[in-house]
Amino acid sequence: MEAAGTHHTPFTDVDTLPSDEIDWMIGMLDRMSADPEIRRVREVARAALRPAPGQRLLDVGCGAGDVARDLAARVRPGGSVVALDYSASTIAVAERRHDGGPVEYRTGDAQALDLPDDSVDGVWCERVVQHLPDPDAALAEFARVTRPGGRVCVIDTDWQSLALDGVREELYTEVLQALGGLFTKAATGRSLRRRMLARGLGDLAATPVTLFFGTPESAAAVLPFVDPAAPTGPVTWPEGLRERWLAEVERAGAAGEFLAVLTIWVAVGTVR
Ligand SMILES: C[S@@+](CC[C@H](N)C(=O)[O-])C[C@H]1O[C@@H](n2cnc3c(N)ncnc32)[C@H](O)[C@@H]1O
Repeated sequence: MEAAGTHHTPFTDVDTLPSDEIDWMIGMLDRMSADPEIRRVREVARAALRPAPGQRLLDVGCGAGDVARDLAARVRPGGSVVALDYSASTIAVAERRHDGGPVEYRTGDAQALDLPDDSVDGVWCERVVQHLPDPDAALAEFARVTRPGGRVCVIDTDWQSLALDGVREELYTEVLQALGGLFTKAATGRSLRRRMLARGLGDLAATPVTLFFGTPESAAAVLPFVDPAAPTGPVTWPEGLRERWLAEVERAGAAGEFLAVLTIWVAVGTVR
C-alpha cells in the first residue's frame, strides 16, 4: 500500500493542467456520463444510496455536476445537494450548467471537508478516491459529516481488473508498463469495503459492476489510452509506442476482435 500524501494523477489537481487538457477532461466526464456502462454503475449506486425527498446529500468530487443535478431532482421536495469539487475550473463548468434545482456548488477538499459533523443524510463519491493522496482521510470525513443512520456510497475503479483481448499481448504489456504511473492505486475499488469497515461504517455492501466494451470507440470514454484524440500530456510514452499501440487497437477494432472489461465497485455503508 502506498504512503498517504505521495499519490498524484491528472485528476488530483485538475486546475494545474493546461487549459486544453482541462477542456478535454471535462469532455471525458461528459462522454462517461453518457456511456451506457457508466449509467449501469450509477443505477447500482443510486439503489445503494436510496436518495429520498427531503434529504440533504453531498456529492464529493462532483466534476461537471451531472450526478448532483440528478440527485437534486430525486430529493425534491424539500431536499438539497451540495456539489463539491477540489477544482475551481470544474466547479465553474458545473455552475454554468445549473438547471435551477436545489444544488449548491462549492470548491473543497474531500480529505478535509468544510462541513459540520452530522450535517448531511448521505454522501455520493464517484471515481474520486483513486485520485486522492489520502483515501482513508476522505472516507473518515464522509462518515463524520453524515448523520447516524445516513449512508455513504463510494464508487471506484479497480484498474487491476482491466483486461483486453484481440490486441497483441506483448504490445499491451509494454503499454501497461508505460502507463504504470497512472494506475498506482490500481485496486482502489476493491479496497473500499475494507477501508469503510475500518472507518466504523456498518451494514456494508460492495457490488462489482463489470463494464464491457466490444469496440475501441465504445471503450474510449473510459479508457483514454485507446483513444487517438486523448492528450498525451499526463503520460510519457516511449518513442513510437503510442503510434504502434493505436494502430494495433485500430486493427483489432476493424477486425471485430477488440474486447475490454473493467470492474468498477459500488460500496455503501451506514453511519452508526
Ligand atoms: C474522474 S473525475 C469524476 C467526477 C464525477 N464524480 C463524475 O463521476 O463524473 C474526479 C473528480 O474528482 C475531483 N477531485 C480530485 N481530488 C479531489 C479532492 N481532494 N477533493 C474533492 N474533489 C477532488 C477532480 O477535480 C474531478 O472532478
